[in-house]
Amino acid sequence: MRRLIKVFKQFSNKPLLSPSAGLSSVSKCSVEGHENKGDTGRLLVCGSSAVVLEKVRGQVEVQEDFISEDEELALLKELEPGLKKKRYEFDHWDDAIHGYRETERLQWTALCEAVLGRVRGVAFPKDSQLLGPVHVLDLDKAGYIKPHIDSIKFCGSTIAGLSLLSDSVMRLVSEDNASDWLDLLLPRRSLYILRNHARFHFTHEILKDEESFFSGKKVPRHRRISVICRNLPT
Ligand code: OGA
Ligand code: MN
Repeated sequence: MRRLIKVFKQFSNKPLLSPSAGLSSVSKCSVEGHENKGDTGRLLVCGSSAVVLEKVRGQVEVQEDFISEDEELALLKELEPGLKKKRYEFDHWDDAIHGYRETERLQWTALCEAVLGRVRGVAFPKDSQLLGPVHVLDLDKAGYIKPHIDSIKFCGSTIAGLSLLSDSVMRLVSEDNASDWLDLLLPRRSLYILRNHARFHFTHEILKDEESFFSGKKVPRHRRISVICRNLPT
């Protein structure tokens, strides 16, 4: 599964104008993403400017409470036994992901399959060919995902992920201009979708607990499991 993603090494050394430069704990979003408040009216997407928000309009979505507590429990019950047999990986310095274990799953119980059917229904274009197995990524409390772009060879236009167990912050940074960035608040049980330009021309990352702030507010990062659906390139 690691072949699906490639780290942007330049992001690890170079000081950036973006919040990746270590300002994340204090930086507030300069513009609020008014278009993307959840059903509760909560702000879920914000960015460095109105221009960057406009650039990815319709290509970045967070849907709060996409799954119920019972559905989250059903997914966990199905995934935990397999994950527990694996160790968290911490030591691969060039890995895009730090402190993780992962698996893929093709067959699901009916309840989980129904949830995934809903994800597919809202996230992917109707004629999309999906990547068969669903990717399951279990991040330890100390784990995080470095900035990367998913392989354009193996994955298509759309990435859709459910977040289980913990809230987290996903940061998107423009490949062309590191001062163009977006932060997504991913509440536990939410669904996020990245499409097209936002998926191909922005790196995405999941912030480590120490840096996990959204619009200036701490978002404690606990152990987090994501269930990620992707389509195939056309
Ligand atoms: C990945 C990735 C995000 C997530 O595995 O490529 O970006 O929500 N995961 O876990
Ligand atoms: Mn990715």
